[in-house]
Amino acid sequence: MFEQRLKTALDFLQKKIPFRPEIAITLGSGLGRFVETMEKTAEIRFGDVPCMPVPTIPGHSGRFVFGRIAGVDTVVMPGRVHFYEGYDVQDTVMPLRLLRLLGAKILLLTNAAGAINPDFRPGDFMLVEDHISFLVPSPLRGKNADFLGPRYPDMTNVYDKDLRRIADSVAERIGIALRHGVLVQTAGPNFETPAEIRFLKTIGADAVYMSTVAEAMAACHCGYRTIAISCISNMAAGVSASPQSVEEVMAATKEKAPVFNRLLHDLTGALAVEL
Ligand code: HPA
Repeated sequence: MFEQRLKTALDFLQKKIPFRPEIAITLGSGLGRFVETMEKTAEIRFGDVPCMPVPTIPGHSGRFVFGRIAGVDTVVMPGRVHFYEGYDVQDTVMPLRLLRLLGAKILLLTNAAGAINPDFRPGDFMLVEDHISFLVPSPLRGKNADFLGPRYPDMTNVYDKDLRRIADSVAERIGIALRHGVLVQTAGPNFETPAEIRFLKTIGADAVYMSTVAEAMAACHCGYRTIAISCISNMAAGVSASPQSVEEVMAATKEKAPVFNRLLHDLTGALAVEL
């Protein structure tokens, strides 16, 4: 069923937009304005593509923006669909699968995340080294789409080592101290309790968010080289005494957006050597 939806959407996009992206980028909460920095050639809303899930929350516009960034043919998705919106986890990974079938080779995922690691601070950026996924269903559950990838994909190197090295050197060049850590995905939409955060710390997580990990798993399955960067927007529940709020998350990411945009721009250009 989802295979047919994917093929219908692909067929539509290929006819409508003759563009072969090299890099696909997903922009997390508060980071959507990066799209304004690109040389745009075409744009289409998820809702105008047959069979596509559409984001239901403010700040996640749900569109594909095709164009060039630092000389690289790129497609940017400001906003994503989340599991907590009520979508099946397979729906949340449909946009990136579609872009892989359009030709994208590298996937750059971004998000706003809560820090579990007490050494992190709001405004830090964390390069994701690995993840913990089993609190939400796998996006690979169900009949395997053999044309996308194998039934039992290896998850030893979900976040490409060479691409991470490039991110480290780009960050250093522009004066950003990039943190490294493990991201865990929760189902959301509620923030976690302090006891849950203590548990997540015990099992090895440095930061928590309500998406991204399932996307990275699906990306690994369908053969992307993936890189993910979290903008730390708040200290997770109990790590700081203050209550969690989406307003705090949005304010922190918006404040860091100009630096983040610079990092994303330069990173996209630097990744071109890997294409
Ligand atoms: N928890 C879960 N998701 C989040 C958080 C958090 O603290 N901050 C931003 N996204």
